[in-house]
Amino acid sequence: MKETKFEFQYDISELSEKDATLLKETRLITNEAYAPYSNFHVGAIAILTNGETITGTNQENASFPVGICAERSLLATAASLFPGQPIDSIAVSYHNKNNNTESDHPISPCGMCRQSLQEYEVRVKKPIRLILGGQTGKIIIINSASQLLPFAFTPEELK
Ligand code: THU
Repeated sequence: MKETKFEFQYDISELSEKDATLLKETRLITNEAYAPYSNFHVGAIAILTNGETITGTNQENASFPVGICAERSLLATAASLFPGQPIDSIAVSYHNKNNNTESDHPISPCGMCRQSLQEYEVRVKKPIRLILGGQTGKIIIINSASQLLPFAFTPEELK
């Protein structure tokens, strides 16, 4: 059977200078997360096709379900400040401050964020590249966020 691969693991030295800089800045932006309940600090930075940069961090709440992930906080900001503007790439990083855990591998967006990313792509008709990495370690690059959500429920269904 033919195997199709859509994700690759890289060392930071193998990234373009632009991607490496974006990821390094994203590692730092995790400091802006508000995550007193999980101690899991997530940051995301997007580069829009118009060259603008948007950041997002997870924002938790004492009423736990009210909290929002970094990725969806970023998408809401992007859509509010630059309506209709496609996103070229989003880097996502994290710092797990529980028990001195090493944040040494990539995390990938939760299911709810995958749904939001997928709809953003449909909305602006452009794939979003994801650059996923911890504070250290391997980096995964995915060329379109929708690849993370096969058989997605899309706005087409509501027509
Ligand atoms: N979180 C994100 O912000 N993005 C992810 O991709 C995974 C999880 C947040 C949600 C919550 O504030 C904390 O990380 C622990 O789940």
